[in-house]
Amino acid sequence: MKRSDIVLIGFMGCGKTTVGMLLARMLSVPFLDTDERIEQIEGMKISRLFREKGEDYFRDAETGLIEELLSGQQERVISTGGGMPLRPVNAGLLKDLGSVVYLKASAGTVYERLKGKTDRPLLAGSDPLGKIRMLLEQREPLYEAAADIVVGVDQKSPYEIADEVVEAVRECRARKKVAAATEKGGETE
Ligand code: S3P
Repeated sequence: MKRSDIVLIGFMGCGKTTVGMLLARMLSVPFLDTDERIEQIEGMKISRLFREKGEDYFRDAETGLIEELLSGQQERVISTGGGMPLRPVNAGLLKDLGSVVYLKASAGTVYERLKGKTDRPLLAGSDPLGKIRMLLEQREPLYEAAADIVVGVDQKSPYEIADEVVEAVRECRARKKVAAATEKGGETE
C-alpha cells in the first residue's frame, strides 16, 4: 500500500522536529521523530549510542526503523535525523512513506541555532561552523535528490514554514494523483 505520511528531511538544526510537531497539530495526525524513537528502542541518547556502538550501528537502526514504519496504517508527520536520507536505500524507503520535504537551511542558520549545544556528535570539536559547511556541501545534493519538495527555512518562523509545507504537500499530492491517473489510463489503452 502507498502511504501518505509527510516526511521531513534536512540538516541538523533546520527545524524538522519543531516544524513536524506543529504540522502534526495543524493536520491532527500523530507525530513521530526517528531520533527519539531510536533513543527509546536503544534505551540511550544518540550521543551515547554513537560513542558506545558507533555510527554504523546507528545508521542500521535508522534503516530498520524506516522499514518498520512502512507497515503502519495511519497518516503521520515524521521528522528524521539529519543523516537519514544519505543511504540510498533509506532515500527510497522515505519516498515510499509519502511526501518527502527537505527543509533547506544555510550553514549560518544552522550554526546560529546549534551553537552552544552539545548533543550533535558529528559537530563536536573546535570548528563547528567549518564542519557544518563541509557536511552541508556534501549532503545538499543528496537531500535534494531524496525530496519531493524543497522549502527554504532561513529567516522564517516555524509557523510560516509549516504553512508552506502544507500548501506544497497539497500541490504535490495533486500532481502525483494526476500522474497516477494518466499512467493508469495509458495502461488500458
Ligand atoms: C545526524 C543528525 C541528528 C542525529 C545524529 C546524526 C546527522 O539528528 O540523527 O546525531 O547525521 O546529521 P538531527 O538532524 O535531528 O539533529
